[in-house]
Amino acid sequence: MNITESIKYIGVNDVDIDLFEGQYAVPNGMSYNSYAIIDEKIAIMDTVDVRFTDEWLRNIKDALEGRIPDFLVVQHMEPDHSANIMSFVNEYPEAKIVASAKAFAMMKNFFGTDFSDKAIVVGEGDSLSLGRRELTFITAPMVHWPEVIVTYDSYDKALFSADGFGKFGTYNAQEDWADEARRYYIGIVGKYGAQVQALLKKAAALDINMICPLHGPVLNKNLGYYINLYDIWSSYQAEEDGVVIAYTSVYGNTKKAVMQLEEMLKANAAAKVLVFDLARCDMAQAVSEAFRFSKLVLATTTYNADIFPFMREFIDHLTERNFQNRTVAFVENGSWAPMAVKTMKGMLENSKNLKHAQTEVKILSALDEASSAQLRELAKELCD
Ligand code: FEO
Repeated sequence: MNITESIKYIGVNDVDIDLFEGQYAVPNGMSYNSYAIIDEKIAIMDTVDVRFTDEWLRNIKDALEGRIPDFLVVQHMEPDHSANIMSFVNEYPEAKIVASAKAFAMMKNFFGTDFSDKAIVVGEGDSLSLGRRELTFITAPMVHWPEVIVTYDSYDKALFSADGFGKFGTYNAQEDWADEARRYYIGIVGKYGAQVQALLKKAAALDINMICPLHGPVLNKNLGYYINLYDIWSSYQAEEDGVVIAYTSVYGNTKKAVMQLEEMLKANAAAKVLVFDLARCDMAQAVSEAFRFSKLVLATTTYNADIFPFMREFIDHLTERNFQNRTVAFVENGSWAPMAVKTMKGMLENSKNLKHAQTEVKILSALDEASSAQLRELAKELCD
């Protein structure tokens, strides 16, 4: 597949994978992107997952029509992109490997060699001429590992963005870009907002016509839309006004309260309300939506003098990704010593710029008049 007259797509689609990175459900599969930049010299951009060696090597051969690659550029050493470095070296022993110093150190760990006889170590601003074009390398530490570089192609004005601007789903999955890019970004890179901001600042100085990520489609239209979303996500701002209710329920009483709250919010014309049963939903989706919207309601039971395990896991996911700049409301249930609100607040105490709703809902086993009134008050407060 031609991306431009001189950039060819040589990646693969993975439709058999169940959990990406061992934890993320990917109902529409995954793509591991790789590109051939064909000029007077030829650069291959990254490799693919270990299960696709033959297909990838065949893709290279088909794209190069008898020519031989001069360089393998390794932007990122996570195995979904680096697993086939050794296969490439065996196939093309004359080619040089271009990567950061940290990436070569990782190669030694993964493969037992740092390929010193064929290594070209690059850092911030270094460039490599392929003929008509120069590739310029830009360091992007922690987007998503410390060794990452991204690459700017001056001829096609293409930014090869490593994991940045990637998404779940196969290359041509028919689905909304933002939903699966957001779930991917928040889950995998969400902790590193400051580093993504730093990369966006460097990218702003470049004249970019297209973004070629390591997952998901090449972006070559309306780039401002995608860059704006990345700016919002990486600065931890809410993307939309709306309420996410995340709950756990053991016997259905907390669930009943949540359902009532949802109805009241909708009746009060809250912008948008999404409800997640944390024991049953895709946890990554719930986390992603909590970052998307401006308000979050946490409703759970007291359990073993703590909170229900799925809620603990959910809040851990939020805090390890620097959840901040949101309104958070609390609903607790407890039959003899309710302490879920205290526990949840404790878990969030180091989160920056969280506004706690004034109204807290305390359910003593099941809704009664007092707790129902608190629910109504909370609904009103969240809609004001
Ligand atoms: Fe797609 Fe961080 O690897």
